[in-house]
Amino acid sequence: MTSMPSIPRRRCVMSLAGAAAVLAAPAWVKAQTPIVVKFSHVVAEKTPKGQGSLKFKELAEKKLAGKVQVQVFPSSQLFGDAKEMEALLLGDVHLIAPSLSKFDRYTKKVQLFDLPFLFDDIAAVDHFQSSAPGQDLLKSMTSRGLLGLAYWHNGMKQLSTNRDKLERPEDVKGLKFRIQASDVLEAQFRALGANPQKMAFAEVYQALQSGVVDGQENTWSNIYSQKFHEVQKTIAETNHGVIDYMVVTNAKWWDGLPADVRKGLSEAMAEATAYANKMAGDFNEDDKKKIEAAGKARVQKLTKADVAAWRKAMEPVWKKFEGDIGRDLIDAALKSNK
Ligand code: LMR
Repeated sequence: MTSMPSIPRRRCVMSLAGAAAVLAAPAWVKAQTPIVVKFSHVVAEKTPKGQGSLKFKELAEKKLAGKVQVQVFPSSQLFGDAKEMEALLLGDVHLIAPSLSKFDRYTKKVQLFDLPFLFDDIAAVDHFQSSAPGQDLLKSMTSRGLLGLAYWHNGMKQLSTNRDKLERPEDVKGLKFRIQASDVLEAQFRALGANPQKMAFAEVYQALQSGVVDGQENTWSNIYSQKFHEVQKTIAETNHGVIDYMVVTNAKWWDGLPADVRKGLSEAMAEATAYANKMAGDFNEDDKKKIEAAGKARVQKLTKADVAAWRKAMEPVWKKFEGDIGRDLIDAALKSNK
């Protein structure tokens, strides 16, 4: 008796998988149960963003029990700075929360937040973000496929170097600084006569330790959780700018979600935002104390005259970017200072 030649089992499985791939809808439309929501970010868990993303997971999975599963990937584990936006647009991740400095390839408007000494404190930043012009910025990148769901706070930036003296702008002349991928920040360090270098967050510790760069700017929370204070000599309390986040999603994926899921995720986001923002101040305050107690880097307090000197040195940046950002937006932001 002759029998049909048998198709090797592996080939059979592969061709079925191939057929399924051809028939499959794009990732953001495909009905999965539960819907997997991947949230990737670059900082440690014990930070405002780390805790905010975990709170979002807890709330979303409670509100949408059985319907969604939220997977949080901290510390650039899934995607770092260089890849996360691209991955979001490709549908490989669904939520990311880059610092506001990292959007300048998508919109010039959000560069507003990088203007040095624009906001007096986080209360002013919060006030502006809640205003109509601030809320409009969340939707300013939809034509590029990115939809902002919320702002999350981290805090004000401090400046650190591997030098003993760090009081006035002349103390950083000629030094190399790691910066986030922002043209405004690049101009800021050039205005100081320093050499800025754009670099992903995950690479900063090593670059500071090995002397590839001499310094950096960041919040107390990021400095402490990344141990930058262990490889820097002085941290000047400049408060010269802000590091806050925009939680963004892929607009197409978001619009393709079932309405009840989108509603539940929006509610979870609103509650997680309030939670993250409430704890951001405490994180920065506590981490500053821990840095002082560790006694590795010295914290340099600045006088009013010192701060005025930094402000004056960084002033040219405003003129350079006013056209791109828009004077109306700058004025709206300035109104948020008391
Ligand atoms: C940085 O790259 O320095 C920070 O923006 C990282 C972060 O997400 O807080």
